[in-house]
Amino acid sequence: MQNQGKVSWKCPSNIALVKYWGKFGQQYPKNPSISFTLSESHTITEIDYQYNDSQNGVKLSFRFEGKSKPAFEQKINKYLETIKEIFPLVKNLSLNINSQNSFPHSSGIASSASSMAALAMGLVDIQQQINPDLPIDYFQASNLARLGSGSASRSVFPKIAVWGETNIVKGSSNKFAIPFHKDIHAIFQSFADDILIVSANEKSVSSRAGHALMEDNPYSPARFKQANNHLDVLINAMKDGDLDTYGMIVEKEALTLHALMMASQPPYILLEANTINIIKEIQAFRKDTMVPVYFTLDAGPNIHLLYPIEFKIIVDELKSDLKKYCVDGRIIEDHVGYGPEKLI
Ligand code: PMV
Repeated sequence: MQNQGKVSWKCPSNIALVKYWGKFGQQYPKNPSISFTLSESHTITEIDYQYNDSQNGVKLSFRFEGKSKPAFEQKINKYLETIKEIFPLVKNLSLNINSQNSFPHSSGIASSASSMAALAMGLVDIQQQINPDLPIDYFQASNLARLGSGSASRSVFPKIAVWGETNIVKGSSNKFAIPFHKDIHAIFQSFADDILIVSANEKSVSSRAGHALMEDNPYSPARFKQANNHLDVLINAMKDGDLDTYGMIVEKEALTLHALMMASQPPYILLEANTINIIKEIQAFRKDTMVPVYFTLDAGPNIHLLYPIEFKIIVDELKSDLKKYCVDGRIIEDHVGYGPEKLI
């Protein structure tokens, strides 16, 4: 048993192919989702901890990139409070956390998936150090990450993860994600995901508010049914290496996510004019060259350009054309990756 120590985890972000949009209860998803785990877009979280069994409440000091960030610290404090039921050990911990992202804070890339997953990995690692008989449990980490940010549950596993209960995937759960790359065709195990930064501004409507607006969205029931159907079709396409069907579903998912926002009350738009310009150019390029390059979107205006890595050289031509639509020509080159890494 160790009463104090240091852990450090590097955790990637992920991009959903079938989107989670709408939740219930304690951050459970209204529909199952599937994602690629990324690599270059990641968070590193270092935690110095002290364990005291007579302490009754977590003590926290949080720094972001070495500097104090009261807003972040408050958010993490609130999160640590919410997990004390399922992770009682937290009440006996004093934590000194320092977190940093590989991408600039205002790059328009959501950091909640990578940061909550890195923190969750750190917590289960600390638990293991205090109780050496316990293994580091990735499912427990995924459950803890989910309570911070739903999509973070999927960042804990390599390559491809599924989160949300569905008959289509054995072992799937609303509580945690599960790894899902084993039966998937080799072409999807090394996919590229280049992130085209159309805007680095903070979103006008947060994901939290967006999820809540799904409650009264008249299209919600149809959407949840569609997401289940999309997951089924997409998984079969990914097992077969069927890029056409994969691309059709992934692009439809991205556009549906934004259509749902536009159909909310109040309606809102997170897309920018350049998002549309890029989408049109990608589709025209695909038609002209027959190169299997597709797009998806997060809850924001930035485009994720998805394609098998072997097409990199030809897609580079498209990218140099699309740069003109990006803030300072910014494109983050990412790809499917191996999941969390323990640094200390
Ligand atoms: O994890 P949250 O609560 O930030 O929601 C993320 C929702 C989407 O990124 C739009 C879709 C997804 O499944 O990741």
